[in-house]
Amino acid sequence: MNIGPLVLTRPTVMAPLAAITDLPFRLMVKRAGCGLVCSEMISANGLIYGSAKTRKMLDTRPEEFPLSVQIFGSDPDLMARAAVIAAESGAAILDINFGCSVKKVIKTGAGAALMKEPQKAMHLLDAVRKAIGIPLTIKIRSGWNPSGLEAIALAKIAQDAGVDAIAVHPRSALQGFRGDADWRIIAAVKQAVQIPVIGNGDIVSAESAVKMLSETGCDAVMVGRHAIGNPWIFEQIHHAWDGIPVQPVDTPMRINMMLSYLHESVLYWGESLACRMMRSRLGWFVHGMPHSSGFRESIRHLSSETEAHDRIMDYMQLKGSHYA
Ligand SMILES: Cc1cc2nc3c(=O)[nH]c(=O)nc-3n(C[C@H](O)[C@H](O)[C@H](O)COP(=O)(O)O)c2cc1C
Repeated sequence: MNIGPLVLTRPTVMAPLAAITDLPFRLMVKRAGCGLVCSEMISANGLIYGSAKTRKMLDTRPEEFPLSVQIFGSDPDLMARAAVIAAESGAAILDINFGCSVKKVIKTGAGAALMKEPQKAMHLLDAVRKAIGIPLTIKIRSGWNPSGLEAIALAKIAQDAGVDAIAVHPRSALQGFRGDADWRIIAAVKQAVQIPVIGNGDIVSAESAVKMLSETGCDAVMVGRHAIGNPWIFEQIHHAWDGIPVQPVDTPMRINMMLSYLHESVLYWGESLACRMMRSRLGWFVHGMPHSSGFRESIRHLSSETEAHDRIMDYMQLKGSHYA
């Protein structure tokens, strides 16, 4: 699949997840085989007027190339200026959020609110397209309402404005995360445009990803919640798509992933902040496993990398593994 001149050799995308897809997380999923990683959503206003903290969200490393940076906002001029800042900071792709349904965002006219206003969306896309030379993508929902008609209309507007690919999460803004994603809308958007379409929503396994690819004809799949603590899902999808048996994740693989994510986070955020983050994040990796609540309890007050390492190893012992 191509996004503008960029070639994605693997049809998998890590969904942008606010407060989750930071640089250490993206490096982890990229190393695990994911085709394309995305930043968290970043406020255009924040990039222009805001703090160093917002600019830090643009940090990237060559290993995660091509990074897609997602921005949100509603003012065409500000969005264009923010897009330039992102491109100059090393974004390989600029993505615009048309899907966020959080009240704080939609009341500013950004995110999913733009799906109700195709004219405004068109001006915004024109302004951003003219401002940057890197590939431009958008991430949309079904629309404000569930029919999918707004998604199809916006997809056509986007294609005409020079957008290079569209990710579709087929739930309406009013739906939030409730109910099922309606994959028929992904298929309808794919039918309506010639640019690549990335399907998103309710992929829970390699099998469900292959089902989405074949049922909707989408060019790539984007995984969100089921990639949290489960970066192996991307390689499993590639194997399932190629008809190769999907490898289960064994304990050494899990522990190595946790340790390297921990270490990368400590290097990036510093030990104190990283350990505070790890108090919940390490728990992602043992979701649904035996004794996982005991493990989560044991990491509630983590304050050093050594302690985190020991707690992970203790958990391994509990599981009776000989890995050391
Ligand atoms: C915690 C969380 C944070 C999210 N943050 C973003 C975001 O920053 N930008 C965005 O476009 N979508 C965001 N989303 C939506 C996801 O990218 C994705 O569209 C949604 O979770 C559906 O995919 P899934 O069923 O694979 O999780 C977020 C979702 C969750 C659960």
